Amino acid sequence: MQCQCAANGSDLSLLEPVLAEYADIRGSLTTVLQHAQEIYGYLPYDVICHITEKTGLTPARVLGAATFYSQFRSQPTGKYLIMLCDGTACHVNGSARIAAAVQEYLHVENGGTTEDGLFSFSIVACLGCCSLSPVMTINEETYGALTPAKVLEILKDIRAKEAAK
Ligand code: FES
Repeated sequence: MQCQCAANGSDLSLLEPVLAEYADIRGSLTTVLQHAQEIYGYLPYDVICHITEKTGLTPARVLGAATFYSQFRSQPTGKYLIMLCDGTACHVNGSARIAAAVQEYLHVENGGTTEDGLFSFSIVACLGCCSLSPVMTINEETYGALTPAKVLEILKDIRAKEAAK
């Protein structure tokens, strides 16, 4: 099915090796989307359309998967992506206080990016390390046993390092 969409200007050739490997394999849509997000940092609409065309899946199927899983992003993210867990263990151990501290310090809503493009903030389901709750990740780094003071220290540290560059 042909997908009618405006181009975001993404370099679609970057995705060709992934599509060459997976486009014809049933059940590989999530893998293709994961690779696409690694390449572009998020899932631009023209990339979604391109995947639709190359896999022969319907736009509804591809868009459905891209919007269903919280790991996928439809907007470009900041340099630092904060993912705060609000799964059961983290929720019970105070993730709401951590979220409030992040939002107040960075002036950013859940799903948003700071004006300087440095931080994006997302509240997500279980990150799989519940014994460390409350937990957040910033890019590849995991931070556990968080308190509002600890999270502010982490964020201020990143800002200071960035300002010093
Ligand atoms: S509930 Fe937060 S890591 Fe599992």
